[in-house]
Amino acid sequence: MRNPNTSPSSLSFVSAKPQQQQQKPSQSQRAPSASEPLSEFGREMQAGLARTPRSISPKFFYDAAGSQLFDRICELPEYYPTRTELRILGECAGEIAGQIGPNAEIVEFGAGSLTKVRLLLDALETPKRYLPIDISGEHLEAAAERLKADYPKLVVQPIAADYTMPLVLPAPMVGAGRRVGFFPGSTIGNFEPEEALAFLQLAARMLRGGGLLIGVDLVKDPGRLHAAYNDAQGVTGEFNLNLLRRANAELDADFDLDGFAHAAFYNAPRQRIEMHLVSRRAQSVLLNGERFGFEEGETIHTEYSHKFTVEGLRALAVRAGFRPGAVWTDPERLFSVHWLAA
Ligand code: TRP
Repeated sequence: MRNPNTSPSSLSFVSAKPQQQQQKPSQSQRAPSASEPLSEFGREMQAGLARTPRSISPKFFYDAAGSQLFDRICELPEYYPTRTELRILGECAGEIAGQIGPNAEIVEFGAGSLTKVRLLLDALETPKRYLPIDISGEHLEAAAERLKADYPKLVVQPIAADYTMPLVLPAPMVGAGRRVGFFPGSTIGNFEPEEALAFLQLAARMLRGGGLLIGVDLVKDPGRLHAAYNDAQGVTGEFNLNLLRRANAELDADFDLDGFAHAAFYNAPRQRIEMHLVSRRAQSVLLNGERFGFEEGETIHTEYSHKFTVEGLRALAVRAGFRPGAVWTDPERLFSVHWLAA
């Protein structure tokens, strides 16, 4: 495993962006005073800095700015997963629609900008309803409005929620076909292995009688993987550092954004990209009245992106209670889309 501190490309980019971001007034809520109860983000940030090694859940990446940065990642030349998955969905849409059948209700987990589902909706026979779930409510509402305009016959019901928590979905509509989960983007890889299993178990229960259509990034040449999370423009680094910018804006925190560097590397034995924020020097940070010391090179772990083999994913799905069906991949076998019957 390489030491994230030694990545020169990630270090050099860091001084460029943050200042500019600090000048922009944040649209998010003002920083609370220390006496106010902490938000979920605040509580988790505080707990994450208090433990060893330090870590914070990647779900907090997605404020409005983070969601926009993520959309930019998806367009990067090095970031192959999004365009490869879109290509698979486009080319195999007919077969996928055949599996799903007419009048389906699509539940999307972590819906983001609602671009991928369009390929599915275009291929499906009279899809009935679409229920996109996303933690970033603002981003979701805007995307849902655009989708409604393009699919006037589809019932679109956005749900602003954390889909890793058990959640009660609206009852099926009269005359509805299968209830189908849609989980693209290899987001399953961003969970810890136990969390991935727990999520799939939850989904299998929620989708009983229907199925899950899931996009999964495959194990491949480490060089290719490394490049995808260390883009030349530094957008992935900006996305990673946005977490600290968000903490400064929403929590009572004083992270010096120039004092931390983006580091992402492939951990081959564990088949995962690991993303960290590395302290570039000894420093201390104040969060909600509590001081946290950082040594030079000390990291906050922010994300995993696990990679799978086709067989590995199918075995995991079986453990969660699914019956794996068809698998679609691209000719280079970079990415896979699986139908898992629930
Ligand atoms: N799930 C995708 C992946 O792991 C997308 C993603 C989530 C991502 N967080 C990211 C991509 C951070 C780049 C950086 O690739």
